[in-house]
Amino acid sequence: MVKRIGVLTAGGDAPGMNAAIRAVARTGMTYGLELYGIHDGYLGMYEGRIEPMNRKSVSEKMSNGGTFLGTARLADFALEEVRKVAISKLKEFGIDAVVAIGGDGTYRGALALHEMGIKTVAIPATIDNDIEGTDFTIGFDTALQTIVEAVDKLRDTSSSHGRCSIVEVMGRNCGDLAIWTGIATGAEYVICKEVGYNLKDVLANINKAALVKNHAIIIVAENMVNLNELAKQVGENTPFEARTTILGHVQRGGSPTPRDRVLASQMGSAAIHALMKDESGISVAFKNNKIITIPIKNAIKQDDTQVLDMCKLFKELW
Ligand code: F6P
Repeated sequence: MVKRIGVLTAGGDAPGMNAAIRAVARTGMTYGLELYGIHDGYLGMYEGRIEPMNRKSVSEKMSNGGTFLGTARLADFALEEVRKVAISKLKEFGIDAVVAIGGDGTYRGALALHEMGIKTVAIPATIDNDIEGTDFTIGFDTALQTIVEAVDKLRDTSSSHGRCSIVEVMGRNCGDLAIWTGIATGAEYVICKEVGYNLKDVLANINKAALVKNHAIIIVAENMVNLNELAKQVGENTPFEARTTILGHVQRGGSPTPRDRVLASQMGSAAIHALMKDESGISVAFKNNKIITIPIKNAIKQDDTQVLDMCKLFKELW
């Protein structure tokens, strides 16, 4: 039975990570376990920046965005020799299990730790919503809210000027943020990996919109198109002058929504229960309104089914 648990956040921060850390720590302490905070993800594990936590360490943090433990991206964690050093630090602190909170990079690290004999449970926290087997990752709801608020503001100015607003959102290789934004804002077009990019189709839809309204909104997932080139094409081939906006890292900040705080609390608690049952190499997940566990291996497989369903819905609403 595990006794001393290390908790970390790694990769891009996501609103709700603090609530997840709190839930891990508080649930663990409720059942008599000892909790240690690992700073800056796998980097802090490698450098031995680890300290004991108490109930106070996690107080008054749930409503803050970001992660109070800090985070980092450590590409070298893919190297076995780096992981061996990190594991030796865990041993120095007598830590026998790890809860890793983050996205797919964090999950790969967690799986590698599990394969090297460290009991590890992962919690999905990324604004990208790109962990499989869970309907939602912690942070997605807050980021979506931030983006929708921004697009609603852009709508005010684009409709006043009769323009087309082209808005780039994050998501790495996953179109969830883009397509959910498109549905929630009634955008004219969404360009993301799952919908694809066809300039003729974009322009046709903007011209169709021009028959009934004096402005348009296009949501673009990052890494899909050259925004300036698209703006030029819209300006030359539709009635609208275009303006581009890259929302950038503002999407990762802000106080988590109640939904993200509750999801993080449920998942943090479930991670401790899984470790108490001696489970390892698993991820907690929210599926069909229930908290479940799935193998990390399955959580990092790419599966576009969920986002494709949303793309279909978006097209029905055009
Ligand atoms: O994974 C979260 C995310 O915000 C992605 O949407 C984006 O592609 C990436 O991180 C940006 O990473 P960084 O903050 O390291 O620039």
